Amino acid sequence: MSAYLQCISCPSKFRVDEILYHCTRCGDLLDVKYDGPAPDPRNLKLTFQNRKLSPTPEDQSGVWRFRDLFPFLGSMTYVVSLREGNTPLWNSPRVAKRAGLQQLTVKHLGMNPTGSFKDYGMTTAISQAKALGMQTVLCASTGNTAASMAAYAARAGMKGVVLIPQGQIALGKLAQAIDYGARVAQIDGSFDEAMLLVDELAREGQAYLLNSLNPFRLEGQKAIVMELLEQRGWRPPDRIILPGGNLGNCSAFGKALKELHEMKFINPLPRLTVVQAEGANPFARLVHQKASALQPLQASTLATAIQIGNPVSWKKARRALEWTQGDVIDVSEKEIADARALLAQDGIGCEPASAASAAGLLKLSNERRLKASDDIVLILTGHQLKDPEYIVKYHAGDLSHEGKHIASQFRNVIHSVPAEAGAIRKLIS
Ligand code: F0G
Repeated sequence: MSAYLQCISCPSKFRVDEILYHCTRCGDLLDVKYDGPAPDPRNLKLTFQNRKLSPTPEDQSGVWRFRDLFPFLGSMTYVVSLREGNTPLWNSPRVAKRAGLQQLTVKHLGMNPTGSFKDYGMTTAISQAKALGMQTVLCASTGNTAASMAAYAARAGMKGVVLIPQGQIALGKLAQAIDYGARVAQIDGSFDEAMLLVDELAREGQAYLLNSLNPFRLEGQKAIVMELLEQRGWRPPDRIILPGGNLGNCSAFGKALKELHEMKFINPLPRLTVVQAEGANPFARLVHQKASALQPLQASTLATAIQIGNPVSWKKARRALEWTQGDVIDVSEKEIADARALLAQDGIGCEPASAASAAGLLKLSNERRLKASDDIVLILTGHQLKDPEYIVKYHAGDLSHEGKHIASQFRNVIHSVPAEAGAIRKLIS
């Protein structure tokens, strides 16, 4: 198979060794595409399974194990891996019950080396950076991309430069980016402004851009879908629900599902449901208003990972919904906060943005849009410990957004007691 870059709106094609993030003719986004004979699904499914027994780093990776479905890298010697992927599927009985479902499956992408789904796409994009001979990599981030890129850049021996909106990223993520040695620039602006800046710098050739504008990021994120389907014996669920911010992940899911369907790995296609926070819902507005272009907005949500008002991948995301007959909904700050705490009651911890998917599920249920027998996979995108401040505030009843208090439905208060056995005995009983 040979790989090339293809514009999503015009017939322009480019070589994969050209450093491009946009079509040079019309400026639109690029896809990685492949020529050659279609693989035999039965053989490949077996190959993927057998690689689990192999000790080589690329076979141990939950991304590179599926490399035949994104064969853009000339040689495995370029692979930079932290043994990403291999994330678990769990059930969540309490959330299932509240949503009126017989059962509910959760895939927790926070169980990755840097604690978020970004690692799936970072390994492929940084490996491409290595193949291209790049020495400096760059991203704008609400936190998780920064943490992931910093780790993979360190691993690859590259310089990592990250732009983050000052005061608007969770502490855990900031700590990671610094610790992995990236050059961290806090800007007095939003993520959307940071994104415009890195796009400009990357076009000038200052550094290689590792945001999801980079189509090689999305090729790695396709492996989330492959892994999820393999874990289910390649039985597609009825619906996959995931949070949407910059909309790269939803775009990758759509591409993966379409390709797997065309290559006869799965039938039928599951429906994709994207969930946004009400204060950061430009994609929900676009789809609900059937508008022709996305209207950027000033985003505001406590789920800082998805505080994005001008998502770069909206066209790919809209295409993903068309392919999968998907939909998009938005949820309130309170719905996100309570859904996050409800998941924790099943022993499943995640960061606020992740819980948008659970909040979306509960909203669909309240709107009577689900059947008890629906087979649904909820995607959790980031680890619980990314944003402990939010969690402590929630349980203390101190969470507020834009001056409005958020009442915590599932509070668990901390007890301040004297250092005496009697007081503890009372607490136990
Ligand atoms: N969940 C988490 C935990 C995220 O960090 C992000 C995005 C999303 C969901 C949304 O995914 O952008 O593909 O639609 N975080 C990016 C970052 C923007 O910079 O870390 P998306």
